[in-house]
Amino acid sequence: MSEHELTRRRLLALGLALPPLAALAGSDLFAGELLAATPAIADDDDPTPAQTEGPYFTPNSPLRRSIVPAGAAGTRLTLTGRVLTTTGRSVARALVDFWQADARGAYDNSGYRFRGHQFTDANGRYALTTVVPGLYPGRTKHIHVKVQARGRRILTTQLYFPGVARNRGDSIFQAELVVRNWRKVGSRRAARFDFVLDLS
Ligand SMILES: [Fe+2]
Repeated sequence: MSEHELTRRRLLALGLALPPLAALAGSDLFAGELLAATPAIADDDDPTPAQTEGPYFTPNSPLRRSIVPAGAAGTRLTLTGRVLTTTGRSVARALVDFWQADARGAYDNSGYRFRGHQFTDANGRYALTTVVPGLYPGRTKHIHVKVQARGRRILTTQLYFPGVARNRGDSIFQAELVVRNWRKVGSRRAARFDFVLDLS
């Protein structure tokens, strides 16, 4: 085996020979995160818990990685991660459909503001550009999501944020669903979450 081939294989094993999703997401924010994150698999292999869909899901959301309408208020947030199986294998072409309240806590129930779906790449990666959702009566901050491997059952769940006082008083909140690696990137926020699907 040539030295070049060995190097290529090692890079593939480390997941480093992949084109950065930054090219797809159109933001430098993703590059460091994805390169740093790719070699790792999920923190554990428990399936991501399901949660209630809530009253505001709208089918047929647009295909897009940014769900922020032009000029919308709010702190920009990039959420990246992977869709994995319980054995740590990436799920390519999984559907990931997000919906959430805007920064003031309002859902768009007549259109598709802050709604959009995308498909994971060949390595199970997704990247969402949005804003940190606002609070609305009775709930802590959260993002709704449906995740589906092709032809399999849909996982419906919600994601949460660390350090939100209202988490404690929200009866739906689950600590396992708090986004990981929550951090500031300039004036923006970034976080990571890997979805684990039980495809057995
Ligand atoms: Fe909600």
